[in-house]
Amino acid sequence: MLSEQSAATVRATLPVVGAAIGDITERFYERLFTARPELLRDLFNRGNQAAGTQRQALAGSIAAFATYLVDHPDERPDVMLHRIAHKHASLGVTPEQYPTVHEHLFAAIAEVLGDAVTPEVGAAWDEVYWLMANALIAIEARLYAEQGAVGCDTWREWEVVGRIEETADVATFQLRPLGEAPAPGFRAGQYVSVQVQLDDGARQIRQYSLSGAGGTGSSVRQISVKRVTAGAGTPEGEVSHHLHARVREGDVLRLSAPYGDLVLDAADQDAPLLLASAGIGVTPMTAMLEQLAATGHRGPVTVVHADRSPAEHALRADHAAYAGKLPHGAAYFFYERPDEGHPAELTGLADLTALPPLPAGTRAYLCGPLPFMRAVRTQLLGCGVAAADIHYEVFGPDLWLAQG
Ligand SMILES: Cc1cc2nc3c(=O)[nH]c(=O)nc-3n(C[C@H](O)[C@H](O)[C@H](O)COP(=O)(O)OP(=O)(O)OC[C@H]3O[C@@H](n4cnc5c(N)ncnc54)[C@H](O)[C@@H]3O)c2cc1C
Ligand code: HEM
Repeated sequence: MLSEQSAATVRATLPVVGAAIGDITERFYERLFTARPELLRDLFNRGNQAAGTQRQALAGSIAAFATYLVDHPDERPDVMLHRIAHKHASLGVTPEQYPTVHEHLFAAIAEVLGDAVTPEVGAAWDEVYWLMANALIAIEARLYAEQGAVGCDTWREWEVVGRIEETADVATFQLRPLGEAPAPGFRAGQYVSVQVQLDDGARQIRQYSLSGAGGTGSSVRQISVKRVTAGAGTPEGEVSHHLHARVREGDVLRLSAPYGDLVLDAADQDAPLLLASAGIGVTPMTAMLEQLAATGHRGPVTVVHADRSPAEHALRADHAAYAGKLPHGAAYFFYERPDEGHPAELTGLADLTALPPLPAGTRAYLCGPLPFMRAVRTQLLGCGVAAADIHYEVFGPDLWLAQG
């Protein structure tokens, strides 16, 4: 909880800090990576840095956290904190790194805001930072402990035991851990971080959702990776390209333990569910569906997927087969370029209004590009689904965090 005095100062300075936060984080990253270049090489996603997206996520989350604190002095924005902590834990972020981030962030604030940072203002924002940092450190400690990661060392070596070309651009890598220790447990919907060494020596990390539920007792896990191709003015994706071009059966990959908070929970048991995905956002959905099929989920499950064409729909056969195993499952696949014989009403972008009405009390899980999720969320709210029952995963820095 923020002290009363700091709350007043933070409330009064939120507009000026909020307006400058883009510049502050830009200077923060410049300072951080000048002082600690290895953090950009081996921890932060340099694609996000180049594209500017991670900056917006960090800046947005601090402003959103401060706003939340002043608006709800006795509460904590747990959803937001957990989302960040899961990502941090999948990267092996340590408590010792928080003072480093603090040092460069506050130097950047002083540089950008100049005299506006009186000792009182500095102290109030310091309190915000450490409230957020200590909350994250505590959640991360719990997450590391749950996975038995000693000293925040989340990394382990896995052998590629199979590679399946799902579509022209998506490959599935089946993995088994090296060594005697069993494969870590996970919940359908979670992701792992994969760290690869690139040609320039950088060890870059990306997250990939586990695309199968794993099966009881099996130590094989799988990820399905879409190759990010070059666009007008944008280079090909570094890690996805490396995995596609270089990694074959028999190779070894470094993986984190599984993390992520987009998972089915106890409240979902036999409840009406909607699993909506687009493109490579299919990966957590197939894992969830496999789990629902394996546990014999009795409630209605509506599966919606949007893709360019059936040929580009990765894991399409699994997607349809698991939905088909559910006693009350129905799958609707929307294609912008359908094959012959595809129902006309399912051509184009995903449209929930073209489907039978969703049962009352539907709980929704979404994964795909932000415009897709925004559109589906708007339709769900319009159908009476409660905002609290709409859960989502973003395959990149979560810019929705910035919106609180
Ligand atoms: C929780 C989570 C789960 C995920 N699950 C999956 C999954 O199951 N399957 C999957 O395929 N992906 C998944 N992703 C996405 C994945 O983590 C990677 O983001 C994706 O593979 C792209 O990484 P990359 O290294 O290939 O691309 P990057 O090199 O990181 O590039 C990303 C984008 O930035 C652009 N870019 C890079 N440099 C510049 C520059 N200088 N200027 C302008 N633009 C630039 C690139 O062109 C590209 O479009 C997930 C992400 C998250 C966060
Ligand atoms: C209070 C302090 C911090 C806040 C508020 C914060 C906030 C965030 C947010 C909002 C994200 C994006 C989450 C998402 O992808 O959805 C993130 C990612 C990340 N954070 Fe932090 N963070 C903090 C401290 C740290 C520290 C101490 C480190 C380690 C040096 C760190 C390293 C990272 C990395 C590497 C990522 C992923 C970046 C990427 O993939 O582009 N963070 N953080």
